[in-house]
Amino acid sequence: MKLSKYPWIWILVATLFATVLGSGNRLLNIGGIFPIGGSGGWQGGQACQPAAMLALDDVNNRPDLLPGYKLNLAWNDSLCEPGLGAAVMYDLLYNPPIKLMLLGGCSTVCTTIAEAAKMWNLVVLSYGSSSPALADRQRFPTFFRTHPSATVHNPTRIRVMQKYGWSRVAIIQQAEEVFISTVEDLEVRCKKAGIEIVTRQSFLTDPTDAVRNLKRQDARIIVGLFYVVAARRVLCEIYKNNLYGKSYVWFFIGWYEDGWYEQHLEEEGLNCSREEMRLAAEGHLTTEALMWNKEREKTISGMTAGDFRLRLNQALIERGYENQSTPVGYQEAPLAYDAIWSVALALNVTMEKLKAKNKSIEEFSYTNKEIADELYKAMNATQFLGVSGRVAFSTDGDRIAWTQVEQMSDGRYIKLGYFDVQTDNFTWFNKERWMNGKVPADRTIVRRQLRTVSLGLFISMCTISAVGSVWALLLLIFTFVHRHRRFIQLSHPACNNITLVGIGICLSSIVLLGLDGQFVSEENFPVICGLRAWCLSLGFTLAYGAMFSKIWRVHRLTTKTKIENKARVEPWKLYVMVGSFVVVDIIVLSVWQGVDPLQRTLEVFPLEVPKDTVEDIKIKPELEHCESQHNTIWLGVLYGYKGLLLIFGLFLAYETRSVKLKQINDSRLVGMSIYNVVVLCLITAPVTLVISAQQDAAFAFVSLAIIFCCFLSMALVFVPKIIEVIRHPGERVESEGNAAPSKEEEERYQKLLHENEDMQRLIAEKEEKIRLLKLKLQERAAIRAREQLQASENHILTGSEDPMQMRLRQGGGERCQETSFYEERPAHRREPSYPPCTAVAC
Ligand SMILES: *[C@@H]1O[C@H](CO)[C@@H](O)[C@H](O)[C@H]1NC(C)=O
Ligand SMILES: *[C@@H]1O[C@H](CO)[C@@H](O)[C@H](O)[C@H]1NC(C)=O
Ligand SMILES: *[C@@H]1O[C@H](CO)[C@@H](O)[C@H](O)[C@H]1NC(C)=O
Ligand SMILES: *[C@@H]1O[C@H](CO)[C@@H](O)[C@H](O)[C@H]1NC(C)=O
Ligand SMILES: *[C@@H]1O[C@H](CO)[C@@H](O)[C@H](O)[C@H]1NC(C)=O
Ligand SMILES: *[C@@H]1O[C@H](CO)[C@@H](O)[C@H](O)[C@H]1NC(C)=O
Ligand SMILES: *[C@@H]1O[C@H](CO)[C@@H](O)[C@H](O)[C@H]1NC(C)=O
Repeated sequence: MKLSKYPWIWILVATLFATVLGSGNRLLNIGGIFPIGGSGGWQGGQACQPAAMLALDDVNNRPDLLPGYKLNLAWNDSLCEPGLGAAVMYDLLYNPPIKLMLLGGCSTVCTTIAEAAKMWNLVVLSYGSSSPALADRQRFPTFFRTHPSATVHNPTRIRVMQKYGWSRVAIIQQAEEVFISTVEDLEVRCKKAGIEIVTRQSFLTDPTDAVRNLKRQDARIIVGLFYVVAARRVLCEIYKNNLYGKSYVWFFIGWYEDGWYEQHLEEEGLNCSREEMRLAAEGHLTTEALMWNKEREKTISGMTAGDFRLRLNQALIERGYENQSTPVGYQEAPLAYDAIWSVALALNVTMEKLKAKNKSIEEFSYTNKEIADELYKAMNATQFLGVSGRVAFSTDGDRIAWTQVEQMSDGRYIKLGYFDVQTDNFTWFNKERWMNGKVPADRTIVRRQLRTVSLGLFISMCTISAVGSVWALLLLIFTFVHRHRRFIQLSHPACNNITLVGIGICLSSIVLLGLDGQFVSEENFPVICGLRAWCLSLGFTLAYGAMFSKIWRVHRLTTKTKIENKARVEPWKLYVMVGSFVVVDIIVLSVWQGVDPLQRTLEVFPLEVPKDTVEDIKIKPELEHCESQHNTIWLGVLYGYKGLLLIFGLFLAYETRSVKLKQINDSRLVGMSIYNVVVLCLITAPVTLVISAQQDAAFAFVSLAIIFCCFLSMALVFVPKIIEVIRHPGERVESEGNAAPSKEEEERYQKLLHENEDMQRLIAEKEEKIRLLKLKLQERAAIRAREQLQASENHILTGSEDPMQMRLRQGGGERCQETSFYEERPAHRREPSYPPCTAVAC
């Protein structure tokens, strides 16, 4: 029997054979879009497409995977252009066979196809898009990716910042969509972690201004997000602006190729040498999602990552790439490999699920929602160990991946540690190296430094004030010992004593003025503030008030009528005056203290650079002040009231400058010391307001003014008294037991004075009379002499008439006439106040 006679057998055999073979060859089709050609964006398909093909072979060689089916990939190039990507997608979808899933490449293309794919109930799996915008389940409900999102770096960055205690960072970014959304995510996470973002600088192509702004903002920890070309420009600007070295930490993206900072410098027109770029790059940190599993671990395909690398290299060489040259996307190739595996595993699971429902994966169409949901669920639940590490997806479809932190050290990247967000597993190797041996600070360390009065000045002023106080005490004792002396009694020693007490209080307030932050704690400072105000105010009022009341009495006494003038000065009136001043003081100070007490306030000065340290610190000088909330009001009240007293005292002292009263024998001295006090106070108060920022000058000025006032007042009022005591040491005994002059004695003294004056006037009158009488007597004597002469002349003329004698006689006649004229006049000429004299003369 010839078999040719039975063609149906052949047909049967062929059919059987075809069925058996066909069952092994039934195809599951998926579509792939790879960015390979083109010039913009990411041409990662160059390495990823061969990797995907490797994966396809491996999957199809696995008997336990998709039994009875073969996975087939239909693909085309998108050039990383969204429009072309969409066209390729339609091409894939509208040309049979039906595709079960789509693989996508670069971010822009994935955005387009992932948004459209839901219309065909297609799951889109991307192996090469990092844009955080894709993590949006509303816009991209069926999107998954084996490529980690760019935001996967952010938790790692924050983790590292927290590790070093950096809470103040700056961001510089290229104005690209992927970086903008990464920064937005970073900002949200920073806010949650309590990390302050000082500034966020963005640039399109030229980072010059952005880097300069970073410098101006005193940024120290800087996260830089840009593609590698911009990264080189930024690095060159970093060098030019000196933003590198021990004080700065840069976070760069870790997926630049090794040696990125030394390449293409001339082509890109960078004005930095290789050496300079290396210097600026030293010590920066990078964060990077792990895309290659650890070398030795066997993955689901039975390969280790190392095996995969060898096979990939081989495949790339076959495609014309040189050995060890790295086409674009070489780093991401494991992601494409694992993407195919994810698809295969998801289909494997779906098939099993569908089988339980008496359905087949072949029933899938672009309108079959049920199978699409099964596919989605299967993809969502995918978990396996691939050559890119553990593959799993978050609810947003993002790849869950480990990240690694590296540091550039001597031109090489050193692995510092790993971080897994999902399990919060932070593995750190403690290999970081800082230039200074110290972790850089996230800001200029500002040391607060309290400006205090220099110790030498404080001690010398205190010494002088102590000497003054002792001197005041000695003067008190002196006044007490010599209290019986008349000139002491007449100087109102009680008033002088009050002045001395006031001076003592004023002098002790110098110590309080100098007690600042170096001696007194912050809590006790308000107490010192209050004490200063009370001491200065009361001391001044006591010392000046006593002198003022004295001068006031003097003025009153000189302007009163004569009778009152004779009255004694009542000491209590002086006390009442001083007392009322003190009461006003106490009221004002108490209200001040009660309503708006003096508080410690800090005046802050501009930062200073310390001279004697290399560390990156600045000094913030601070100066303590005592201030109330309404300081000006209170100071105005006190200054106004005391200023009036001062001006009035000045006026009184001027008015009574030439008055000498025996009741208050030292009024002129007191007046002089009032001049002093007024002048010094009027100079000091405004000057201290001006120089209050210079603590030493202000303290010295105020202290010296107080000391000068006090010493001068003491000298003027008391030194003459001491001299008097030294000159008349005996008076003390004589006047002992002689109490203050009684009223009668005073009156008797006054009476005697008046009598004395009357007597002297009388004597003067009598003497005038005597003089006139003497004159009269002389004239009489002259007349008598003339008469005698005439008599003798007559006797001679009778003998011989001589012409010379004739002349003599005529002259005598003239003289006589004169005399008679003089005699007649006095009655008219004399003033009426001398009637006795006239009477006598007439
Ligand atoms: C694929 O599914 C089958 C059951 O349908 C299962 O036995 C096999 O283990 C799966 N393969 C893998 C790699 O999980
Ligand atoms: C890719 O698409 C172009 C036209 O869009 C077509 O000519 C080419 O054959 C396609 N390539 C593959 C591998 O399908
Ligand atoms: C390059 O830098 C040098 C100094 O380092 C400067 O003199 C020169 O002008 C710069 N050139 C450009 C194009 O910026
Ligand atoms: C590629 O180069 C490496 C060393 O650089 C060598 O070990 C390897 O054998 C080369 N592979 C091929 C296919 O030439
Ligand atoms: C599937 O089909 C088989 C027979 O073809 C039947 O016995 C079984 O009940 C069906 N299962 C479901 C869930 O429909
Ligand atoms: C996807 O997986 C996550 C767990 O990884 C799960 O919480 C979520 O419910 C799943 N979503 C769907 C639609 O199954
Ligand atoms: C964290 O990861 C490392 C490997 O990087 C592993 O050895 C360690 O056990 C993990 N720790 C925890 C708590 O998961």
